[in-house]
Amino acid sequence: MLVKVDTAAVQGLQAIPVTTEVYATRGVQFYLVGLPDNAVKESHERIVAAIQNSGYRFPIQSITVNLTPADLKKEGSAYDLPIAIGILATADEISHDRLGKYLMVGELSLDGSLLPIRGALPIAIMARKQGYEGLIVPKGNIREAAVVNNIKVYGASNIQEVIDLLNNKEGAIEPTEIDTRKDFYDRQNHFELDFSDVRGQESVKRAMEVAAAGGHNLIMIGPPGSGKSMIAKRLPTILPPLSLSESLETTQIHSVAGKLNCNTSLIAQRPFRSPHHTISQVALVGGGQNPQPGEISLAHNGVLFLDELPEFSRTVLEVLRQPLEDRVINVSRARYAVTYPASFMFVASMNPCPCGYYGDPTHHCTCTPGRIQQYMSKISGPLLDRIDIHCEIQAVPFAQLSQMQPGEPSAAIRERVIRARNIQTERFRSLPSGRAGVGAVHCNAQMSEKMLHEFAEPDAASLDMLRMAMERLKLSARAYSRILKVARTIADLAGSEKVQSMHIAEAIGYRNLDRGDWAERGV
Ligand SMILES: Nc1ncnc2c1ncn2[C@@H]1O[C@H](COP(=O)(O)OP(=O)(O)OP(=O)(O)O)[C@@H](O)[C@H]1O
Ligand SMILES: [Mg+2]
Repeated sequence: MLVKVDTAAVQGLQAIPVTTEVYATRGVQFYLVGLPDNAVKESHERIVAAIQNSGYRFPIQSITVNLTPADLKKEGSAYDLPIAIGILATADEISHDRLGKYLMVGELSLDGSLLPIRGALPIAIMARKQGYEGLIVPKGNIREAAVVNNIKVYGASNIQEVIDLLNNKEGAIEPTEIDTRKDFYDRQNHFELDFSDVRGQESVKRAMEVAAAGGHNLIMIGPPGSGKSMIAKRLPTILPPLSLSESLETTQIHSVAGKLNCNTSLIAQRPFRSPHHTISQVALVGGGQNPQPGEISLAHNGVLFLDELPEFSRTVLEVLRQPLEDRVINVSRARYAVTYPASFMFVASMNPCPCGYYGDPTHHCTCTPGRIQQYMSKISGPLLDRIDIHCEIQAVPFAQLSQMQPGEPSAAIRERVIRARNIQTERFRSLPSGRAGVGAVHCNAQMSEKMLHEFAEPDAASLDMLRMAMERLKLSARAYSRILKVARTIADLAGSEKVQSMHIAEAIGYRNLDRGDWAERGV
């Protein structure tokens, strides 16, 4: 007897239809074909135990399971459920007539319960597109799968509940309905952290505001304990709220990576990813044997924070350059090529020197200029080139901290950021999309050289000032366009149509690391 059960594979961020064909005939063999990986091959043992522990007999027959299309690599344990259901259907434990209406995925535990799988959201999107009446997922995946409407989504705790549903038994599980939009908007503005927790540090907060307003990458340089990590973590609270479509993109990536917790449907706040400096290249950019999105894609539409930047390995930092430019990452190996979105704000922090106290008024720095230069050179020029704002930070002395008033709340800063972003949206609305494969320009940080001339050209007086400052501060040539970009954002924050000399002056202050005399000051 031949039974077909529909299921899905996930490749990149796409779900692809897969059919589980189960053929039972005389004999006592079990064959699994259709390019399965080891996790799929091991499903046999799980399925036998799950079926028997759910009170059914595993049919004593020769069973062949074929996963089609055969040329698509099948990975993971999500095929356990469709294979088990197919086997039970060949034994007539399940009525065949409703099987074709459902798409199902799920990993079986030995006692028959269902465990969550990766990629439930893209699978739900595909199932709706294919016109299935219902989708059956493990209960742990129900909130992410239920994001998709116009399809009945069932969350099953165990295989018995799936059998009862397929047999149309009274009291069988009902489809889950969650008002995901309401839930999304409710959670959007509830942050655990707030900029008002940061006392003093007005100039760093201002730099953060400018960075958020123009989508500029930023690096903070300061001694230990000066609040670098504390400030970076609060950046998502002043970025414009995620739109529904941005959230859907980000949630899909987290769904495929298996990083959504079971209480989450749509991700409502911009992600903040802060990988440790021992992270591997694959974990940062994605890939691996069974390709998975890396940290840079998990940070899509949010913030990637690399704390203690010089501690990261040079090769890991080098692979960041391409996605910082293209806002996508292409991972190709012999067997596959996938593209993951990776549009994020890059924020880094570092100490100014190996001992951490170079330039600190209260501590003596023990590093020689040579050692400081060596430390700085750990971050390559091309990477630094992609960071628009360099901002120095000094620790607020403890005695002062306790007396200071709470700072301005994030909501107030965010309002100004949103206003500046709206100006940019208007500015770039009519532009054609950029180079092939690169999305449209949304914010000042993404402007090309040509756009800089069009939108951020300073007047003659400002230009003179900029030239003089560049000479006096020994700024490198690459600083020039960065300064103009940031000045454009500062002008937008001020509601000024023209880039004026005061905007340029502030932007020049954000190029500390380009200064030729960086390692010579104060020594
Ligand atoms: N301006 C500030 N306002 C309030 N608290 C502060 C401020 N600066 C520092 N702190 C306190 O000091 C702690 C240490 O700050 P944080 O860990 O962010 O420093 P850091 O610069 O990242 O240090 P490191 O280089 O050691 O990582 C914070 O958790 C916070 O409690
Ligand atoms: Mg820190």
